[in-house]
Amino acid sequence: MFKIAVLPGDGIGPEITVQAVRVLEAVGRRYNHQFEFKEGLVGGAALDAAGTPLPAETLELCRTSDAILFGAVGGPKWDQLPLHLRPETGGILALRKEFGLYANLRPVKVYPALVEATPLKPELVRGLDIMVLRELTGGLYFGKKYREPLPEGGFRVVDTLEYTTPEIERILRLAFELALKRRRKVTSVDKANVLGSSRHWREVASAVGEEYPGVELEHMYVDNCAMQLVKNPKQFDVLVTENMFGDILSDQASVLAGSLGMLASASLGGGIGLYEPAHGTAPDIAGKQLANPIAAILSAAMLLRFSLNLAGEADCIERAVTVVLERGYRTADLMEEGKIQVGTAEMGDRIIEQIDPPRTLE
Ligand code: IPM
Ligand code: MG
Repeated sequence: MFKIAVLPGDGIGPEITVQAVRVLEAVGRRYNHQFEFKEGLVGGAALDAAGTPLPAETLELCRTSDAILFGAVGGPKWDQLPLHLRPETGGILALRKEFGLYANLRPVKVYPALVEATPLKPELVRGLDIMVLRELTGGLYFGKKYREPLPEGGFRVVDTLEYTTPEIERILRLAFELALKRRRKVTSVDKANVLGSSRHWREVASAVGEEYPGVELEHMYVDNCAMQLVKNPKQFDVLVTENMFGDILSDQASVLAGSLGMLASASLGGGIGLYEPAHGTAPDIAGKQLANPIAAILSAAMLLRFSLNLAGEADCIERAVTVVLERGYRTADLMEEGKIQVGTAEMGDRIIEQIDPPRTLE
């Protein structure tokens, strides 16, 4: 029996997460696994119901589960709250910190059926397969922050970008380990021409690189990387970077695969893994069954692969997604002429049909 904590959150979070749960149930039917799904409150939904974006019961639920399936948090309703109460900082960031989830894997893989869906020229992305590895518990997100009034009026506002040597070492080591199973190239992205933290990042990256003579290490400035991602994205294999750069570059990289709605993620490092689509809550389309559930569904595949060690089952989900896209089914974000537009739940249905065992004739 596998225990999964399900934290749907806000906006489109609930409607996409439920599809990921249905897909996992289909995997359970096909491969005879028992999943126990327990829902917890997080983000704005938790604020409204319990007065805090991360209630103690949710933390306890996560602690006693084998993996966390997360939707998305945040929305205009809660934007004016102080940082510790906001769904983002008080919810998902607090969870990442609490469980030591320092490594965020965001695979950008172009499905053959979607080469035309990118805003770039199709030949630039055909066959593209990049692993964006984002440091997730350090940097600007978690450094000291304050705001102090100035005597002449106005404020001084400060965010701090902090990293320690061990924090950089562990994420770089993972980058090299991932590269060993891929095309053996690591691009470490920084801003070492300006930031002290980046200069240290670069030194540590080089030192860790010495331990992996079989892997090519390249350093790249973040501005250049943003440009290279649209100019020649196939040069990248594993792209490793600090928290904020990773947040920005992964959104950018996601559209190479057609849409941010395709970008899954796994957050690892502590005892328990958290799996969430890289996109946000999309308040403008929430509740309308327009959202693409594939990022959530592929996050569930990563959950099977990394937390439950069920690689064959994860492959099965990815194959199902491939087939459904080949057959022309598209949510609104990926819609092109000649394709069949489906809603959130119907995309879930199409994928589940590919997973469920064929019915035997009676
Ligand atoms: C992401 C999101 C989050 C982040 C937000 C919701 C706090 O953009 O997972 O990329 O910035 O990490
Ligand atoms: Mg982001």
